[in-house]
Amino acid sequence: MTVTIVGSQLGDEGKGALVDLWGGDADVVARYQGGDNAGHTVVEGGDEYKLSLVPSGAVRDKVGVLGNGCVVNPKTLFSEIDELRERGLDPDVRVARRAHVIMPYHRVLDGIEEDAKSDSDLDAGTTGRGIGPTYEDKAGRRGIRVGDLLDPEVLRDRLEYVVPQKRALAEDVFGVEAGEAFDVDAVFEEYTEIGERLRDESMTVNAGEFLGSHLDDGDDVLFEGAQGTSIDIDHGIYPYVTSSNPTAGGAATGTGIGPTVVGRGEVVGIVKAYLSRVGTGPLPTELTGDDEELADSIREKGGEFGTVTGRPRRIGWLDIPMLRHAARANGFTGIAVNHIDVLAGLDEVKVGHSYDLDGEERFTMPATTERWGRCEPNLREFEPWNDVDWMAVAEEGYDAIPDNAQAYLEYVSAEVDAPIYAIGVGPDRAETIELANPFDE
Ligand code: GDP
Ligand code: IMO
Ligand code: MG
Repeated sequence: MTVTIVGSQLGDEGKGALVDLWGGDADVVARYQGGDNAGHTVVEGGDEYKLSLVPSGAVRDKVGVLGNGCVVNPKTLFSEIDELRERGLDPDVRVARRAHVIMPYHRVLDGIEEDAKSDSDLDAGTTGRGIGPTYEDKAGRRGIRVGDLLDPEVLRDRLEYVVPQKRALAEDVFGVEAGEAFDVDAVFEEYTEIGERLRDESMTVNAGEFLGSHLDDGDDVLFEGAQGTSIDIDHGIYPYVTSSNPTAGGAATGTGIGPTVVGRGEVVGIVKAYLSRVGTGPLPTELTGDDEELADSIREKGGEFGTVTGRPRRIGWLDIPMLRHAARANGFTGIAVNHIDVLAGLDEVKVGHSYDLDGEERFTMPATTERWGRCEPNLREFEPWNDVDWMAVAEEGYDAIPDNAQAYLEYVSAEVDAPIYAIGVGPDRAETIELANPFDE
């Protein structure tokens, strides 16, 4: 069977921790979208692993697959694999031959376009990893795929077509001097070598066939979503979004496994008990102004600084209309709620239960981001809970969670109409309380 892990909010919900927990029961862990814009943290017995591209299952010695829906920067991939090897792990990572490659010019263009947009407030605050420009070329049918790196003749042809266009874009449209990243010969030389390493290490696969044959053999596959529903290119707060589909449908299109198979499995939404945001754009429940200090304390306690970029994350109360939207767009069969410990010890705990927009109460997100930005949250207050020994709580289980935190969890579960499978009370693997294992559901 399959279990799909999806971010319910704006990314960084703690997906890595749950992929790690349930990845232990899977045979294969596959990513289906995004690239090294993701930053997933796994903490095991105090050892911390921060992974951008290698699926989090690598920490559990699982086969990791980067599906066709991913955009792959092979340099990041190799450096992460090499680093894991240095730490004594032996990651087995396969890359879809249909996945698109993030080329050096994509990264440069990402930065150039963000700069150009910053005057108009259209910049998304991207991670600068070249994600958007690579997906643009995919849709424009001028991209370079992993399979092309294995065939120097094809690679050369593609580069000769696309690189002069990119150079002209940088120089003539944006007025920026194009460097080596826009030089056909230099790029060709570097990427044929990358192709050789991919071949030498037998890393490339037809992802659909590879995963399909594992499933046919009765193996369990965990799909590891990156980013989150509200930064999905279709269902998120466009244009402040990433360029792929983190929502559960992406698990089918991004791997070559049919939606019926994905839908027969479990789809688990990962929820952070409050909001964090690394990018730009509106955020109705954001803690600003008089609440700045409160935001600072949550940020410090939750370590809310970007895994990829180190940027301090913006903080807000939990946004329930956002979760209702996510529950529908993904069809959650269950949820996991993380960071209950981070809200402990506060004087007040609130959630945005609904919005007020033009005098009307709304329970879901409007489809345009401008209207979303005008939404005033109707806040609902919960009794706060104290800080406790969370490791001890994790050992004892759900009943040891402070009553007020239990009331909060039960409210969230009821609003999204999905049972709680797990609760995060700290970053370590041992600090997740498991109520149900989706592979057993
Ligand atoms: P991801 O991108 O969704 O995998 O999440 P990140 O790894 O970017 O950010 C989540 C951060 O919170 C990481 O530092 C995790 O180690 C940490 N974390 C995950 N779950 C919990 C939790 O329940 N409590 C606390 N305090 N930290 C958590
Ligand atoms: P994980 O998997 C949080 C945000 C960026 C920016 C927008 C577009 O760790 O949850 P991009 O580089 O993708 O073109 O940036 O999306 N963003 C994320 N925010 N978590 C992530 O991944 C993110 N990946 C991208 O900050 O606003
Ligand atoms: Mg992250």
